Amino acid sequence: MTHPIRAMIAGTGSYAPPRRMSNTELESLVETSDQWIRERTGIHERRIADDSISCADMAAAAARSAMELACCAPEDVDVIVDATITADYLLPSNGCLVQEKLGLFNAVAFDVVAACTGFVAGLAIARGFIESGMYRKVVVIGSERLSSLTNWSDRTTCVLFGDAAGAVVLEPSENGSGILSTFMKSDGRMSEWLQIKVGGTKHPHKREFAWDGSDKIAMRGTDVFKVAVKEMGNACLKVIEQAGVKPEEVSWVVPHQANMRIIEALTKRLGIAPDKVVINVDRYGNTSSASVPLALDEANRAGRIQPGDLVLMTAFGGGLIWGAALVRW
Ligand code: ACO
Repeated sequence: MTHPIRAMIAGTGSYAPPRRMSNTELESLVETSDQWIRERTGIHERRIADDSISCADMAAAAARSAMELACCAPEDVDVIVDATITADYLLPSNGCLVQEKLGLFNAVAFDVVAACTGFVAGLAIARGFIESGMYRKVVVIGSERLSSLTNWSDRTTCVLFGDAAGAVVLEPSENGSGILSTFMKSDGRMSEWLQIKVGGTKHPHKREFAWDGSDKIAMRGTDVFKVAVKEMGNACLKVIEQAGVKPEEVSWVVPHQANMRIIEALTKRLGIAPDKVVINVDRYGNTSSASVPLALDEANRAGRIQPGDLVLMTAFGGGLIWGAALVRW
């Protein structure tokens, strides 16, 4: 039986900085409690990068471990897609920094800015490159140093975020495995719901800057929450339908790790059993575009995901933007 060329995940990798920040530690920064954070978000701790670890460093570490698992030589990489909203610099891209760090000199590298949906967007881009025959080996990374953009005096956001990176190596498969379907959608009418106002070219940092937190992440959390549950659910149902499978055939859901209550509401709507859901929000918090590949790598290395499994990934984030991908492992 012949199969169409698909983009299969040949290896996964991740990196999280060693420093753990507990909920109790946050109690000394803002008026909050370990109990509130656990009950409302499911987060117990998050990782925070120290000054010596940049976003591109984490991206390179995750990509290196994915390449090792995929037995992918540096000279074989054709494309590096780094999804991030916390790149080391506005220019050049984080992707080019990863290229330099890992010596991937036959590749083209660039970044994707799609907030927490960035990794899923990267998968969709890689799928197009590979299925069209344009490129063969694509490294897709999600890397974030959100602690740099967190307002540590805003209790409604600072308890949520953490730093990490995750990555996959994609290559062509002809045995039916690989990405079966992808879906993405955004709605810029809600762009102000999750925003960093100051620091771009429209409102640059000024020399005399009265700090009011506007150069850090601000969010209308409850509004984002509702859209997240609805639209991630819709995106998942779309990719399931496009692939011609049924929700009960899904082996694993790897959702964006933003909030345990969002994950529970999502999987309840899809009718997928809780024991099929990969969770690590308790240990890492919301790491934006790193969240899905970090959870995927943990599940893969723990041997939970097996060849032939159907793996459903989904994410949403600032834009607002959301998406899903369904993969035959
Ligand atoms: N500690 C204690 N109390 C708090 C805290 C805190 N850390 N944060 C908020 N509260 C209080 C509020 O002030 C409010 O008090 P009030 O009733 O006296 O006004 C009360 O708790 C309830 O606040 P809500 O905001 O209604 O709480 P909610 O249940 O909605 O949870 C949360 C807030 C966790 C932010 C939730 O809305 C959420 O997870 N939203 C989605 C976040 C997200 O995932 N964003 C997208 C991705 S991020 C990206 O793209 C970079």
